[in-house]
Amino acid sequence: MTVRRKDEVAGLREAGRVVRQCLLEMSDRVRAGVTTAQLDEIAAGVFRRNGARSAPVLVYGFPGQACISVNDEIVHGVPSGRVLRDGDLVKLDVTAEKGGYMADAAVTVGVGTIPRDRKALVDCARRAFHKAMRVARAGERLSAIGRAIEAEVKRSGFAVVRELAGHGIGRTIHEEPTVLNFEDPRDPRRLIEGMVLAVEPIIAMGSGRSETAADGWTIRTVDGALAAHYEQTIIVTADAPILVTEAA
Ligand code: CO
Repeated sequence: MTVRRKDEVAGLREAGRVVRQCLLEMSDRVRAGVTTAQLDEIAAGVFRRNGARSAPVLVYGFPGQACISVNDEIVHGVPSGRVLRDGDLVKLDVTAEKGGYMADAAVTVGVGTIPRDRKALVDCARRAFHKAMRVARAGERLSAIGRAIEAEVKRSGFAVVRELAGHGIGRTIHEEPTVLNFEDPRDPRRLIEGMVLAVEPIIAMGSGRSETAADGWTIRTVDGALAAHYEQTIIVTADAPILVTEAA
């Protein structure tokens, strides 16, 4: 959506606050021995306490409150009895609906002690997001976001998962425009003041190619390499974007 009024911004911020609360509480609970279903219960509790709902459940009938993906699982992992182990990379992706507004954010959390290369992957996804924030300005090309993300990811020696992308958001989860994590030089579209976007570098250690798992939901890397994800919902302005979800 493109917001024009203060009450629209406030509505988005409220949905964003619930997302942030979910991610903080879930991240805090990540440790060896915890199941992804237990993390999902935390999201359920935050939604309940805040009068919010899981947007993937509402829109897609997703079988979980949050998407929780581990290691080679990139996105849309289904919460289960899977037990987290030391060194795992857990991607927590939460989209909340409150009062008719939706906001989306994701973080990657290491379980216990993670090796240096895994930490580098996690840090790269966050850094790529912030690099994109430097160029996300009203009047700029939309593809400047993808260019900034891809440059940072390549520079760090990792790959963008090209089949997955950020997106417009606000009234439902996936709205126009698609926000690629690489530059499409033929895309002439420009960022507009008030545009609400979920910007989400989704990156991997190997080739970056992805496939859907047998459960029909989980998307994982074809080569089994580790993936990381960082996402926030933003509002485009003439200056620095408003970070609606302000994920840690
Ligand atoms: Co998203």
